[in-house]
Amino acid sequence: MNLKQQAAEHALSYVHSGMILGLGTGSTTDFFIDMLGERLNSGSITDIKIVPTSESTRARALALNMAISNLTDHPKLDLAVDGADEVDPQLNLIKGLGRALLREKIVEIHTDQFIVIVDETKLVKKLGSLGPLPVEIVPFEHNAHVRWLNTLGCRAELWLEENGQPVMTDNGNFLVRCWFSHGIPDPHALARQLADRPGIVEHGLFLGMASRIIAAGNQGIQILERKA
Ligand code: A5P
Repeated sequence: MNLKQQAAEHALSYVHSGMILGLGTGSTTDFFIDMLGERLNSGSITDIKIVPTSESTRARALALNMAISNLTDHPKLDLAVDGADEVDPQLNLIKGLGRALLREKIVEIHTDQFIVIVDETKLVKKLGSLGPLPVEIVPFEHNAHVRWLNTLGCRAELWLEENGQPVMTDNGNFLVRCWFSHGIPDPHALARQLADRPGIVEHGLFLGMASRIIAAGNQGIQILERKA
């Protein structure tokens, strides 16, 4: 098993029959979904309802015959499990390089038990150290949003597909990637600036949301827990 699979497998120990489960997006979560599917098929876990955070996760869960639900029917999730692009020592996250940050955040604020599964290479001292921060923007006047993002101490670029077309999210929006050459100095201040700006739909800073990190490394599994 690779490290992502090991983290995913460990997260299964927090899943119990009868749970309403938020399911994230990305390659690590895909391992988790597949393993959960095996447990459901074997009957060792039963009666799970899934609230997916993307169309791809919904499709994967449906292919494994999982029961799909939503926040209307289940406003409180028992647990959410998702990957991340970066995790800092306060358990703050960068997410969204799998293109699903808005739906992930919408779903994952509805639980007190948000477990993040990563390989240990994602653990950083400062967010923004490994790669860009993704930001979801409305397509209308998108160049103006990108221009404004470039005033925030980063290099911001519209995320393009190989064919040159803007990457489009499940919500019909565009994504911008913002590179901070020395990491993000103050993630909370940046999150507030982004939240206040018309045209910015959501950003990949998930601050104070994760309750537990499962980080798989060559020396084994490391569990980081948020202090109350
Ligand atoms: C999806 O948009 C992201 O938030 C993912 O959770 C994140 O990019 C981690 O992806 P991997 O599990 O593929 O590394």
